[in-house]
Parts: sequence; structure tokens; C-alpha cells
Amino acid sequence: MSIVYLSRRATFSASHRLHSREMSDEENRELFGKCNHPNGHGHNYTVEVIVRGEVDPRSGIVMNLADLKSILQDAVLDDFDHRNLNVDLPDFEDVNPTAENIAIAIWRRLEPCLPDGLLHEIRLHETENNLVIYRGE
Ligand code: NI
Repeated sequence: MSIVYLSRRATFSASHRLHSREMSDEENRELFGKCNHPNGHGHNYTVEVIVRGEVDPRSGIVMNLADLKSILQDAVLDDFDHRNLNVDLPDFEDVNPTAENIAIAIWRRLEPCLPDGLLHEIRLHETENNLVIYRGE
């Protein structure tokens, strides 16, 4: 049995405002600084979806990358690209759209669309220097 990890990368642009309802306005300003600015700001995000599975002995593949591409497009990118995450997406109605929570939201959207146990990791790059990794834990 051979286990291989497969990754598909995509980009999207979105705006957000970091603001937690659990914290006071002052605490938000202090923690998030300019990212707490009321009118928001934008990022060019890169998301990598990593699936992990057995190589099918007949086809030689873990999963069809064209399927992964279209699942990512339909379940995530169509809704996230060129949106205001705070306002446009139910995922962030009660959740601060930090990179951490965006990675979790992407996992939750993809997981039901993929074969059981195949989704391994979401890597979300918010800037060239900032990356969050979520593995469904
Ligand atoms: Ni930001």
C-alpha cells in the first residue's frame, strides 16, 4: 500500500475586517491594529488543499485533480473570490474572519464534498510571509 499526498493550489482576493464580538472595541483596536479599521482591507489569498490517500493500483492516482479543482471552485472560490468576508459569507456571521478561521471555513466546505478521510490539510497564505495550516483537529 502506498500513501501519497496530493496538493491543488488556487488564489482568491477578498476583503475583511478583523473584529471579535467577544472583545471590546478598545481590545480589538489594540490586538488587531490597522486590521481592525472599520472599512476593512484586502488580501490576495493563496489556498492549498492537500488530500492524502492510497494510490489506486489500477489508475495510478489518489484522486482526479480535475475533480479536486472543480470542487474547490464550486465549494469555495465561487463564494470567496472578490467578496467582503465579514458581510457576504454566512461562515463569518459570528466568526472573526482571521486567516485561522478562513482555513477552518474552507475545510468545512470541502470536507463533505470529498471522499471520506481524503482531505488532509488546508494551507492558507494570507500574505507572502503569513501561512496558517489546518488539519481538521
Ligand atoms: Ni487582513
